[in-house]
Amino acid sequence: MKIIDIIDKKKKGLELSKEEIHYFVNEYTNGNIPDYQASALLMAMFINKMTPNETANLTLAMAYSGQTLDLSDIEGVKVDKHSTGGVGDKVSLVVAPIVASCGIPVAKMSGRGLGFTGGTIDKLESIEGFKTDMTIDEFKSYVKNHGIVISGQTDELAPADKKIYALRDVTSTVDDISLIAASIMSKKIASGADAIVLDIKVGSGAFMKTIEDAEILAKTMVSIGNSLNRTTICIISSMDEPLGFGIGNIIEVREAIEVLKGNGPKDLVEVCLTISSIMVYLGKKSNSIEEAREIVLKSINDGSAYKKFREWIECQKGKLSVIDNISEYRKASNIDIFVAKEEGYISSINAQEIGKVAMLLGAGRETKESIIDPSVGLIFEKKVSDYVRAGDVICQIHHNNYGNIDMIME
Ligand code: URA
Repeated sequence: MKIIDIIDKKKKGLELSKEEIHYFVNEYTNGNIPDYQASALLMAMFINKMTPNETANLTLAMAYSGQTLDLSDIEGVKVDKHSTGGVGDKVSLVVAPIVASCGIPVAKMSGRGLGFTGGTIDKLESIEGFKTDMTIDEFKSYVKNHGIVISGQTDELAPADKKIYALRDVTSTVDDISLIAASIMSKKIASGADAIVLDIKVGSGAFMKTIEDAEILAKTMVSIGNSLNRTTICIISSMDEPLGFGIGNIIEVREAIEVLKGNGPKDLVEVCLTISSIMVYLGKKSNSIEEAREIVLKSINDGSAYKKFREWIECQKGKLSVIDNISEYRKASNIDIFVAKEEGYISSINAQEIGKVAMLLGAGRETKESIIDPSVGLIFEKKVSDYVRAGDVICQIHHNNYGNIDMIME
């Protein structure tokens, strides 16, 4: 087989065979196909779309591009969650310790920021020392001993996703239903979860801009999950404005801690409670989702969820004093404010534009090589439909003077 023939076939809109898709995934993962040819194929897939068969074959090829985890020796139903990505989406940081504190093992592989959206791994790595790179044995020992782990994409588990994800991020091939479904489901299959909860974001700050596309993505992922005997449930949640008040890595860790302590912005709290409740129910700790919600609330209110969060940060080598003591957070050197020019109500906050601003500040990547600045980002003081007077602060901009702040303020 030759990669040039596969690119040509997809360019003409023809369906690729299972063998052709496996060839691409394996040879690219092994370094035998250069980035420029992989990019060309991804763009042809993006433009000409993939059939359900192609999507299923791509998912399986990526899932089995490395080792797969067998967690059967760990007691209990292992439940995983994944978001399709949004702006200010720090839900995994909250949900993982809540669910683990309810006695359900959480073994999760997450990604870095993609396009204008943030990534759980970048957020976790903003906690000094926090380790997201690990071997399979380490991954398993965290779940066995602490009931919780979140790792980055590894060279052992779904290595194809690690490479293809990074390439899609910088070649404008992210927001495609088949590529997203294959990327997410391959990670979930490789990391051995029995049940999966998917949070499909829809709106200006999400890859799915319409409910119709979000529903197609949901059906695609549920059908892949079910065909492999993984109970899969999707929720569709709004990403028309950033979730919560904070956007940026350490800023989002701080907001996640607020939710774990029983505070936090209403929209964020609601998504966290909904997803945690479904996970507790799938983990067979309750007879209904309503009952699961009571269990989740109890774990937040009696401090167990936050205690589990601290245990998790410590076991993955994060510096605990950073969590406990606000003065130890990495802070940006400047805080500028963006104020209302006149009185009125806030009619919209375009999450995608805010995601791009956060990226320009250094919270996300413009190229594969970009280095994340953990301290920068935005903290909103107002949400959509809030009333403002002229001069009220709408948002704080935490930055390190990279020279683009004047353009951002405009
Ligand atoms: N999250 C992923 O893991 N992959 C995607 O392609 C999009 C969001």
